[in-house]
Amino acid sequence: MRIPFIAGNWKMFKTVHEAVLFVKELRGLVKDVSGIEVVIAPPFTALHAVAEAARSTNVGVAAQNVYWEREGAFTGEVSAVMAKEAGAEYAIVGHSERRRLFGESDAIVNRKTLAAIAAGLTPIVCVGETLEERERNQTFEVLDRQIKNGLDRLTAEQVAELILAYEPVWAIGTGRNATAAQAGEAHAHIRKRLRQWVGGDAADHCHVIYGGSVKPDNIGALVAEPDVDGALVGGASLDVKSFMSIVTKSRPAAV
Ligand code: 13P
Repeated sequence: MRIPFIAGNWKMFKTVHEAVLFVKELRGLVKDVSGIEVVIAPPFTALHAVAEAARSTNVGVAAQNVYWEREGAFTGEVSAVMAKEAGAEYAIVGHSERRRLFGESDAIVNRKTLAAIAAGLTPIVCVGETLEERERNQTFEVLDRQIKNGLDRLTAEQVAELILAYEPVWAIGTGRNATAAQAGEAHAHIRKRLRQWVGGDAADHCHVIYGGSVKPDNIGALVAEPDVDGALVGGASLDVKSFMSIVTKSRPAAV
């Protein structure tokens, strides 16, 4: 039984002050909410303060990225060990914005995923096709490549514990979400592949969440798909009311 998982990826939004105010409000709203995991991924500058505000609550905290070396001359980078020490429990890895704007390859995604696990973080590994790839009917091929390479050298037990985020690039920040049927089809494909590659137990345990223009009015249909285990929410996670509405509508009782 996979508990729904809803994470807000704030990207490069919110100052420390704004982030803490948000989390203080959110922790009160989710205080009595059970049967769902709620996670916030603030920018690095706010990570520690958010983790402090979320301590001993049912709000989890994620880094938006990590570097794979523990420490060293890597100006501007933050290691998985440092993110963990600052209070993160999860790390987003391989977001399409990092792949597209910062040149992250599947091999880099793999190194970051392994480093996150080694540091005791749960990776949220993002995969997804571009519009061009979808139109060329290459969606499954792209997902297979990104997952196989991104999760290379992980044990079945490690795959079981991580979170895969299917984020079609054409749906991110465009207001054009994948339909529930499109998401359901991609998630079912991912689950099938996981079953082949790491076995039924790990495939059944691994969370596969959807990201791309998730809003309060489309989340219900998305999480009603059997293989959609939650969402990675961008824009709609910046407002506490809309994020909370997505959380509420993702709970099993609400579906
Ligand atoms: P939007 O919800 O703004 O489309 O962003 C999705 C996303 O990239 C989450 O990681």
